[in-house]
Amino acid sequence: MAAEMRLDRFLAESVPCTRGEAKALLAAGRITVNGAVCKRADTHVAAEAPVLLDGQPLSHQTFVYIMLYKPEGVVSASRDGRDTTVVDLVAANFPRRALFPAGRLDKASTGFVLLTDDGAFAHDILSPRHHVPKTYRVTLDTPLTEEMRAGFAAGVTLADGETMAPAEAEAISADGRIVRVTLHQGVYHQIKRMFGVYGAGVDALHREAIGGVALDERLAPGAWRELSAQETKKIWGACHK
Ligand code: URA
Repeated sequence: MAAEMRLDRFLAESVPCTRGEAKALLAAGRITVNGAVCKRADTHVAAEAPVLLDGQPLSHQTFVYIMLYKPEGVVSASRDGRDTTVVDLVAANFPRRALFPAGRLDKASTGFVLLTDDGAFAHDILSPRHHVPKTYRVTLDTPLTEEMRAGFAAGVTLADGETMAPAEAEAISADGRIVRVTLHQGVYHQIKRMFGVYGAGVDALHREAIGGVALDERLAPGAWRELSAQETKKIWGACHK
């Protein structure tokens, strides 16, 4: 059976608005369900029910999932007293959503940051148990060596003694300085620290994909779009393989 919910909750999560505002919309006769005006907040409706506000169909969506192209200089946080955050870049469009980044990129790093208000989803994709792959394009100050590649594959032990899960590193430029790295965990400054073990410095770092979903190449730095249901499912699926 399809999940049902109270109409005021459906409205709160679809408009979105508060429950109080939802009740006001109902009382004003602005909501129809199955073509008839409905004023009762406790009416039960299915998530896919034909509910209209002022004649416009509402689609029920409990959470939002956003693909953002993080530009350089923006911090991966919800709020920051000093710097622009990844959430600041989308906040005007989601005034009532408590969005946060599901995984961080350093201030100087660029690329795919996933913003959501779905705590369970974020927890799942960040959990080290799930090994969701994240792919980066890394520019080094020295060519990738076979020692680094093999060390990444075996699991690098960082300077503080912590051993990282196996990771893939592959040179993608003729001079060997541009490297595609795939990680299956997220540790603070992980890539910089992993290359640091070999005395290699990171000049630039760009996240290309999360859970097999690539950053949309039509997005410019600072631009964003919502993930499609299929993309969200694919990332979620990468957690539960
Ligand atoms: N590893 C890093 O060192 N920095 C990032 O931003 C992401 C992964």
